[in-house]
Amino acid sequence: MRKAGCSAATILDRLCALVRPGMSTLDIDEEGGAMMRDFGVKSACKGYRSGNRVFPSFTCLSVNDEVVHGIGLSERILKEGDVLSVDVCIRENGVIGDNCRTIPVGLVSPEVERLLRVTEESLYVGLSQALHKKRVGDVSHAVQKHIEDEGFAVITNFVGHGVGRTLHEDPQIPNFGKAGTGPQFRKGMAICIEPMVNMKSPQIRMAKDGWTALAVDGMPSAHFEHTLLVDEGRPEILTIPEGAGSAEEYFETKLSGVAV
Ligand code: MF3
Ligand code: CO
Repeated sequence: MRKAGCSAATILDRLCALVRPGMSTLDIDEEGGAMMRDFGVKSACKGYRSGNRVFPSFTCLSVNDEVVHGIGLSERILKEGDVLSVDVCIRENGVIGDNCRTIPVGLVSPEVERLLRVTEESLYVGLSQALHKKRVGDVSHAVQKHIEDEGFAVITNFVGHGVGRTLHEDPQIPNFGKAGTGPQFRKGMAICIEPMVNMKSPQIRMAKDGWTALAVDGMPSAHFEHTLLVDEGRPEILTIPEGAGSAEEYFETKLSGVAV
């Protein structure tokens, strides 16, 4: 899972680096598919089934008020001031690496910048609670508190999850809840924490394509995700890109500046 996490994170990094105004989300998805081929890994999104629907893209690309599970489209052209969530979820040697980041396309307003920052912070605030013998509710509560203290809205329709040979395993990891409740973490468990945050209302609705979730308030939405391994002292982030240093260093850098 370390290997799969590293591949997922490196692809996410490289994909985010090439996003420019004027590109379509299909262009980005095709680049993602090519990178997966080069890495010798498979998309865990493409072909994903929900009921009788099959997800068509290599990656999930969600623009502005699209919350999650956006599909790469040739007619969806990115413009300066948009935000784009890039969700890269792959399978390598039979195990999953799943991570996501929301990036500005060019310059965005200070309030949207704050949305991105607070959502990313809430991921690290939650992560630092994913410890041996703590409970799922400890993560959920910490994520929710950070987001709501900053005046944003936590989405409750989608949750984080256990992960391993399949993408979505037990336990579910909501981004809202009560500390000290829920299943207990154990050293060695692999989980995905993935806060999804709206600016005003937590309400979402489904687009006609049956996959894309939209923010009902019509405002930009943010999503950050890591795959990690529960441990005693601190969790080990598995979705760390090549060249980013050790998991320890990465955690330190990301957590500094966030009051936990
Ligand atoms: N990171 C997303 C998740 O955990 C990946 C979804 S793949 C899709 O749900 F096929 F459902 F879009
Ligand atoms: Co996930």
